[in-house]
This record gives sequence, C-alpha cells and structure tokens, in this order.
Amino acid sequence: MVRINVVTLFPDSFTAALGSSIVGRAAAAGLVRFRIVQLRDYTHDKHHTVDDAPYGGGAGMVLKPEPFFEAVEDLKAKPPIVVLSARGQLFTHELAVRYSLGSELTLLCGHYKDIDNRVVDGLGAEEVSIGDFVLTGGEPAALCVVDAVVRLLPSALGDHESASSDSHYEGLLAPPSYTRPPSYRGLEVPDVLLSGDHDKIAAWRAAEAERLTRERRPDIWKKLDA
Ligand SMILES: C[S@@+](CC[C@H](N)C(=O)[O-])C[C@H]1O[C@@H](n2cnc3c(N)ncnc32)[C@H](O)[C@@H]1O
Repeated sequence: MVRINVVTLFPDSFTAALGSSIVGRAAAAGLVRFRIVQLRDYTHDKHHTVDDAPYGGGAGMVLKPEPFFEAVEDLKAKPPIVVLSARGQLFTHELAVRYSLGSELTLLCGHYKDIDNRVVDGLGAEEVSIGDFVLTGGEPAALCVVDAVVRLLPSALGDHESASSDSHYEGLLAPPSYTRPPSYRGLEVPDVLLSGDHDKIAAWRAAEAERLTRERRPDIWKKLDA
C-alpha cells in the first residue's frame, strides 16, 4: 500500500479525480491511501493567511513557509516530498516508477506567484514540473503525478489493461491502436491487424513504435540509439 499525501489550498480539486476510474478503484482496493490536507488548516491567525508579498518587491503573492512545514510535520511524511513547480525537473515515466516503488509520496501544491523557497530547501523536497508551461496552481500537476504513479501499482490495472505496452514503458512511444469497425468513413484499419498473423502484427507494432518515436520524439530516439 502506498500512502499519497497532498497539501493544497483546493482539496475539492481532488475529490472527483481520486474517486473515479482506475485511481478510485485502486483506493477502494486498498492499494493506495490518500490524505488530502488543506494548507489553511496550518495557519494560526484569524484570517488563515497563507501568503504574503514577495521580499524584493514584484507582482503576485508568495505562499508562506510555516503552513507547509507544519502540514508535512503533522502528516509525519517520509521522503520523497515533492513540490510541484514549473522550475522543477521534468516528470517522466522513470520518476513515476520510482514514486510507485516507494511506500509514501507527499505532494505540495503551490498557487499564486510562488512558494517560499525555504519549503524546498528546509523540507529537502524535490521540485517536479509536468511540462514547460505554467499552470495556475499545482493541483492539476499533482493529479497527473498521482494518476501516473497509481496506474503503475501492481494490480491497479485490470487483466485487460497493461502498462507494459504503453508509451514510455520500454522507452518507445506506443504504436497506434484500432478497433471495430474495420472500415469507417473511408478510413481503413491496417490490413496486417486483420490478418490474424501474430508475428506480423508484432513486427508491424514494433516498426510503428520506432517510426513514431523517431519522427515525433527525436530526443527519446537519440537516447535509445546511444
Ligand atoms: C502561477 S504558478 C507559479 C509559477 C512561478 N512563478 C514560475 O515562474 O515558475 C503557481 C503554482 O502552479 C504550479 N505549477 C505551475 N506550473 C507548473 C508546472 N509546469 N508543473 C508543476 N506545477 C506547476 C506550482 O505549484 C506553482 O507554485
């Protein structure tokens, strides 16, 4: 069982996503346990202030360090502590695998202009980005991480589903998929997939995976080639 903690100003963002589909099923089966905590619960003033103006000036508000420290301490969270951040290392399949192999994962969601950097330094946190763009808050990023991690947990996917044939699992992008009908609006399913010849199908899929990776992700292709 993996315990996943999320510290957020918007716990409601997680309710539907963590209760449905594969992630919801995994939680119901006891493979993962979620603790979603409200950052404001760790403030001590009457206005529950979580942010303040940035030192040095500039636009936007910065989330204060104290509530994050107190939330993590209250959760008795073990590493890894992850701060979702546009300046973090890119979230990849390798990182999802590492997190899925641990017993606990704690995700800290930022909002507004930034999080006080002492949260990262003082909690020994890893900064993780889900892509080279800027979100309003860390919640959608945390949901991406949770989803990618939970589907890798043993038994999280049903018999008819498999992570091992997905993109990135073996390094390559996955080949395209088709289902019935064989012909739709003049669009045909490749003949080989209808042939019943499993060797030919496997060879076609391997070739398509290589072609797509080479064409669409030369960065990945170069790494694999090396
Ligand atoms: C408006 S953003 C802050 C962006 C920050 N000022 C910067 O330039 O890097 C607010 C919060 O959204 C989250 N966030 C934004 N983009 C993200 C990304 N690409 N990956 C992960 N989290 C992100 C972080 O938690 C961040 O603290």
